[in-house]
Amino acid sequence: MTASKPAITLGLIGFGNVGQGVHEIVNTNQAMIAQRLGGQSVNIKTICVRTPEKYKHLVQTETLTNNPNDIFTDPDIDIVVEVIGGEDPAYDYIVQALSHKKHVVTANKELIAKHKKTFFELAKQHDVDILFEASVGGGIPIIKSFKVGYSANQMQSVYGILNGTTNYILTKLFEDQQAFDTVLKDAQALGFAEADPTADVSGLDAAYKIVILTAVALKLDIQIDDVFYQGIDAIQLTDIQYLNDMGFRVKLIAKATRVMDKVFAAVYPTAIPVDHPLAMVRNEFNAIFSMGNMVGESMIYGKGAGSLPTGSAVMSDILDIAFDIKAQLSRRHLETSLGTCPVLSIDDNQTEFYIRLSVSDEPGALEKITNTCSDASINISKLIQKERLNNTATVVILTSQVAESAFNSFKQKLKGLSVVHAIDAVIRVGL
Ligand code: HSE
Repeated sequence: MTASKPAITLGLIGFGNVGQGVHEIVNTNQAMIAQRLGGQSVNIKTICVRTPEKYKHLVQTETLTNNPNDIFTDPDIDIVVEVIGGEDPAYDYIVQALSHKKHVVTANKELIAKHKKTFFELAKQHDVDILFEASVGGGIPIIKSFKVGYSANQMQSVYGILNGTTNYILTKLFEDQQAFDTVLKDAQALGFAEADPTADVSGLDAAYKIVILTAVALKLDIQIDDVFYQGIDAIQLTDIQYLNDMGFRVKLIAKATRVMDKVFAAVYPTAIPVDHPLAMVRNEFNAIFSMGNMVGESMIYGKGAGSLPTGSAVMSDILDIAFDIKAQLSRRHLETSLGTCPVLSIDDNQTEFYIRLSVSDEPGALEKITNTCSDASINISKLIQKERLNNTATVVILTSQVAESAFNSFKQKLKGLSVVHAIDAVIRVGL
């Protein structure tokens, strides 16, 4: 690869939602891209897909192949763009590409979260780069922000709305009171959700992303098993509305934060004050709110999913590598110096809780509940009785901060009270 090549040549592996976005950007912004690269154009030479016939109406037939080796062994191809997602066979494709001295651009959060160190070391060994801007935050240039923009800071914490699908669902549940399944289908049709949306809804997609942000922002190497994650499948409109009445919005928050000499990383539905900047992030938008020791608080916001926003992030990596090829330099060593530190267990996480109970509508029921709170040293910051129906009353309690392990024991004691018919919902409150 020389700096004087007339074009940067791409091989795409995968041509779904994101791959087609990249194709559209290469075509639409062709002249502008060439101008930014000092006359060098960006061309897609080969696209590898399982069934080439399916894509003949979209691209020239000679561009399509079902053999990834056509890309790895082609001396013309500078950059391999992996946009198939999932672990298998994408892991092998990235290893093959790096081993053939191809730069790699990937949108694959699962692979970067699980295999970042292997990839960084392989890239270093073969003197090429692997960039992954599209793996977190869709079109938001969040990786570059932490690598370069905040590089003069020790980052203390990162809180993100990192999954477009679940943010879209939570927004539509609350604002339009649409049914969960209907909104999920819309998110799939709009190209936000994963092929199998279970990872979106369960919080796993956001968990992969927080592993990556922990590396890029906090410079710490944690594993997916270190992240406690919980999705939005149990969230009900009733709780969204009750929490709204108390001044909170429910969001799926992914967080990584330093706690003394440990790091805590988790994803769970969180009720945050309506005036917090993250509370205003609606639909498929993502945002990353962070705290650095010099810059203080800041938030970056943009579209977290979809063909063109994600394609835009992929293209930004392609241009970044093209600049480096031109300048004959590499910045691949940025991620190779990740530190490690102990991970705080979810049991030791300190948070406030919202809890909704169905209780007997009878004298002394509330007293029994508040006595259980005081026996467990749970401080009540709010207690409201809601509807009463068929001898059952709905009670919601907001606690002060408490360790999760203490809260879990308290929950067990509540369940043992004859006046408590059910614990209907528990949602953590506050970042
Ligand atoms: N399914 C993901 C989301 C796409 O909804 O955010 C972007 O990673």
